[in-house]
Order: sequence, then structure tokens, then C-alpha cells
Amino acid sequence: MFIGRRMELEKLDRLWKKGNFQLVVVYGRRRVGKTTLLKKFSEGKNSIFFVCDEVNEKVMLDSFSKFVLEHFGLSETIAPFESWEKVFRFIGERARKEQLLLVIDEFPYMVNASPEVPSLLQRMIDHEFANSKLFIALCGSSIGFMEKEVLGSKSPLFGRRTAQFKIEPFNYLEASNFFPSLGAEEKVITYGILGGVPQYLLKWDEALSIKQNIMNNFLDTSAYLYEEPRFLLKQELREPALYNAIIETIAFGASRLNDIANKIGQRNDKTGKYIKILMELEIVGKEIPVTEKENSKKSLYFIRDELFRFWYTFIFPNRTLVETGMSEYILNSKILPGLSEYTGKTFERVCADFVKRKNAKGEFTVRLEKIGRWWGNNPFKKRQEEIDIVGLGNEGMLFGECKWQNRKVDISDLNKLVEKSELFNTEKKIYVLFSKSGFTYKLLERAKNDETIRLYTLEELFE
Ligand SMILES: Nc1ncnc2c1ncn2[C@@H]1O[C@H](COP(=O)(O)OP(=O)(O)OP(=O)(O)O)[C@@H](O)[C@H]1O
Ligand SMILES: [Mg+2]
Repeated sequence: MFIGRRMELEKLDRLWKKGNFQLVVVYGRRRVGKTTLLKKFSEGKNSIFFVCDEVNEKVMLDSFSKFVLEHFGLSETIAPFESWEKVFRFIGERARKEQLLLVIDEFPYMVNASPEVPSLLQRMIDHEFANSKLFIALCGSSIGFMEKEVLGSKSPLFGRRTAQFKIEPFNYLEASNFFPSLGAEEKVITYGILGGVPQYLLKWDEALSIKQNIMNNFLDTSAYLYEEPRFLLKQELREPALYNAIIETIAFGASRLNDIANKIGQRNDKTGKYIKILMELEIVGKEIPVTEKENSKKSLYFIRDELFRFWYTFIFPNRTLVETGMSEYILNSKILPGLSEYTGKTFERVCADFVKRKNAKGEFTVRLEKIGRWWGNNPFKKRQEEIDIVGLGNEGMLFGECKWQNRKVDISDLNKLVEKSELFNTEKKIYVLFSKSGFTYKLLERAKNDETIRLYTLEELFE
């Protein structure tokens, strides 16, 4: 089963069809589907698909050489190359005769073993590869590394690349293709638990209930997802303890740097450095009120990856109970009662995504340039105010409210949103309301005659 990634595959194919030298860089967080995408792209092509291991230079060069020779059926006749230069020169010569795809997956491991590879590749590109039909794809999951050492201005490869692809987790709509038989409500809940990382989405058995899936995947100590967050942090970081503390603190509601630092008992600057690394791993994100400038001091941290948010909200604090066989108890007394509030947050993200998609297609009467959350001071009421979705455009603004609750959304909910929107002065205002349980007749009637009000049910989010 291969899902989505149409845009990426189309772009890659377009570059391939040019038939000249190409250097593309593919990167993105762990488990997001980089290798799978490149495997799909390489289907039916003359390709060398090399996956680097964490080994030293000699072993790496040796296995790469053998792999390359094997591809050409020459492993019996030619001895492995003694240098990177020789093996790359050989590849370049071959690619002059016929088009060749060379994928180097886990490229950062190659550079760790042989730091001279990027500058060697640069020289090769300028001289040997320039007139060849070689298509190189460098792939890596360390976003910091790929951005600095491969795409960054100080990297020898800077400016040599012909394209780069940052592979993102699937959004809620793409993710829902992993469980097409579920209803809209279950799709939102499931997305909230797993997020958009294909490796995690694959673990869900849509024939079973949400309850049973949580039980099987998170409350069984031998399950993949039970281990995953800890495993991923251990794989990527040297001292997971502080990172664990930071993520848990954020999962439990601390969002300002100062609060997080206080709660974990570390200085702000040190905490900030750790958070930056969690942001590079795309586990933590930072947001500012949509009306603020990029460097605003009002920034808040949040857990960007839904699986991590679920895990640190419900599993991490209860892991001793899981390990002592109290899984049924945790499910019934902690997870199920907390799931609705938890999913409320997911729902806001889903709706914001929906607004972005509609806006990109030009389906609102105002074209929005920026869409996000807003929070700030209400000087009239002297209190803090929050708006789930605010969109800014040249001719107007959009205000959105997302209700994940069991009662129908009513005129009073619209009025509250209208009241909050009075904090902003703009020509045209659009109001959008999202509701898990639908809308009252009165509100539906009201919206019918007013094109500034849009009401969306759960089902419409998946159309
Ligand atoms: N487009 C897709 N459709 C269906 N399944 C996918 C897709 N992409 C990835 N997967 C599945 O998700 C899992 C992880 O994908 P993959 O190994 O490609 O990720 P990766 O980004 O290379 O991860 P890592 O950084 O850990 O190497 C695989 O088992 C794969 O089957
Ligand atoms: Mg991979």
C-alpha cells in the first residue's frame, strides 16, 4: 500500500525526464516516509539505492564500492575501490552512457564516517558529473544536519543542488486514507492519537475499536508504539532524560520558555537549547499569535507531533502502571475520560488545516495570506482572549471557532465569536464555525441568509 506523495513524485519525475545531471536533497523527520518515497521513485529505473549504516570510513567505502560494482555485474572482475574519488569517478563515467539514479539514504552517516565526502562530491559535480545523466538523491532524517551541512550556505554542496524536498507528515485528510472505513469522528480521534507519520498510521487496525487499538498499541509493553517515543529519542539524542522532562512538561500545559525551565529546574538558556533540538526533530513546535511578527516575544511551545502528544499525556506519566499490568485501569480511568478534551486540541489543528486548504483553492470570499491561532488581551473586557483560527487578508479577516463537544453549536457561540472579532478593525469579516455535533436549527437558518457565516460539520472536513 502506497499512499499520497503525488506532488513529490510528479516533481521528481519531471526532473528525471530532463535526463541531465541532478542533485536532489530529500529530508524530513524519522519514519515520515523518505525511503519509501525514493523506493517508489526508483521503481523501473536504472538505480543504485544505497543505505548507509553507522560504520567507519573503511567499512562504508568498502560496502559502497561493492554495492556499486554489483549493480554493474562487476563485483567478480573489479576489486573494490580504495577511495571515494575512484568510486564516484566510476559512477560518473557509467552515467555518461546511460541515465542512472544514485540514492544515498542516511547520507549523514556517510559524512560522519568520511567528512570529506561533501567537498569531494562538489568537485565531482563541477567536473565529472556535469555532463552526465547522473541523478543523485541524498537523503537524511537529521533535519538540522541536512539543512546545515547539505543545504546550508557553508556547505560545499550549497548551490549545487537542483531541488530539495522536505517530506512532511501527512495532514489529517491524507492520514485518513490509512483508515478509510472509519466515520469522521473516529478519523479525527485516530489522527489525534497517531498524527501524520505513516509508520505510526500503519499500526492501526481499523477493524478494531479505538479502545482496543489503544490497548494493543500503547498499553502493551511489547507494542511498537509503546516503545517508539523513547526509542526515537534514544536513537537521536545522547541524554534523553532532560528531553523527556521538557516534552512531558509541555504536554501538561506549560508553554512559555520560562514556565518550562522552572518546571524542569533548568536555566532558560539551557532549556531553550534543548527545545531547539526538539524542534529540529519536529516533536515540538513554536507558535505566535497570527497577528504578531516572526520574532514576537509572545511565542508559545506546543507538541507538534500528535503521537508524542498522546504518549506524553497518557502513557509516559503512567508507565509504571503499564509495566505492572494495570493497563485496563489506565485505559478506563485516565485515557478514555481524558480523550475528548485531548481531541479538542486535535480538532483545532484539523480545522485550521481545512481552512488553509479551502483558502488555497480560493473558496472564501476573502483571500487570506496568513492563518493561525490568536491570543491576546481584550482591553474592553480586561481579560485574555483566544480565537481558535484567525486568517488575515488584504481585504478582510476570517474568524473561526472549533467545538469538539456533544451539544449542538448555537447562535450564542456565533455571538461570542463576533464579539471577539470586534477586537479587530477590518473591512470584511468571515465567521466559520466547526462542530462535532452539528448546529441548532436557529443558527442554520441564520447562516442561510448570511454569506459571511460558514458552518461546517465533521463530514464536510473529509469531503
Ligand atoms: N506513502 C506511504 N504510503 C504508505 N505507507 C508508507 C508511506 N510512506 C511510508 N510508509 C510506511 O511507513 C514506514 C516508514 O517509512 P520510511 O521507512 O520510508 O520512513 P523514513 O522517513 O525513511 O524513516 P527513517 O528516517 O526512520 O529512515 C514504512 O514501513 C512504510 O511502509
Ligand atoms: Mg529511511
